[in-house]
Amino acid sequence: MKLIIDDANVEAIKALYEYYPVDGVTTNPSILAKSGRNPYDVLGEIRGIIGPDAELHVQVISKDAEGMIKEAQVIREKLGEKTYIKIPTTREGLKAMKALKKNGINVTATAIYTAQQAFLAGKAGADYAAPYINRIDNLGANGIATAKKIHDIFRLNNLPTSVLAASFKNSQQVLELAEYGVGAATVSADVIEGLLKNEVVSSAVDAFIADFEGLVGEGMTMADC
Ligand code: G3P
Repeated sequence: MKLIIDDANVEAIKALYEYYPVDGVTTNPSILAKSGRNPYDVLGEIRGIIGPDAELHVQVISKDAEGMIKEAQVIREKLGEKTYIKIPTTREGLKAMKALKKNGINVTATAIYTAQQAFLAGKAGADYAAPYINRIDNLGANGIATAKKIHDIFRLNNLPTSVLAASFKNSQQVLELAEYGVGAATVSADVIEGLLKNEVVSSAVDAFIADFEGLVGEGMTMADC
């Protein structure tokens, strides 16, 4: 499962890239709005941090297919070919997805709340389909079960699309989808940190250090003795 950062905070992305095995960055208009800066300034900096070959997902704003396609061209010109154009999975969105895929442009079908939407995005040739786990839960349905069902539909129908699960509350949800073989998850910095944050881990590491320092002296490491 690819692990993608769902954030436009340049400092947070830099730190996560330095320490964690992450595979790219996703953004959406609300995430970009939080930066309070010109979207292309922020996205350009993110592209600079992650490099030209990493996945960067950027969403269009237009509600009509023609507008979406025009935005896709500008986004790609400015941010490179490894940029995935996030298209909301609406009727107009499906039209745009088909046209973009005909031209070999990477597409992420987004704003997915139902398996029905995801099935259509898969048929339209999207590379990824992004079900919103937490938001589906809040509607009284089951986000994790929906993501699993979409994964199964794609595989059983030989569709070219992977699930890019989004909108997570916690790291356990991410792990549950990893266990199921879901293609990718996009998660906030907090949830990524949550995969590792565990008192038992830090106390085990502290105990190893204390034992070693008892043997060779305080502050000593394997590089010093
Ligand atoms: O990019 C869409 C998705 O990640 C939204 O997450 O937390 O706003 O529901 P959230």
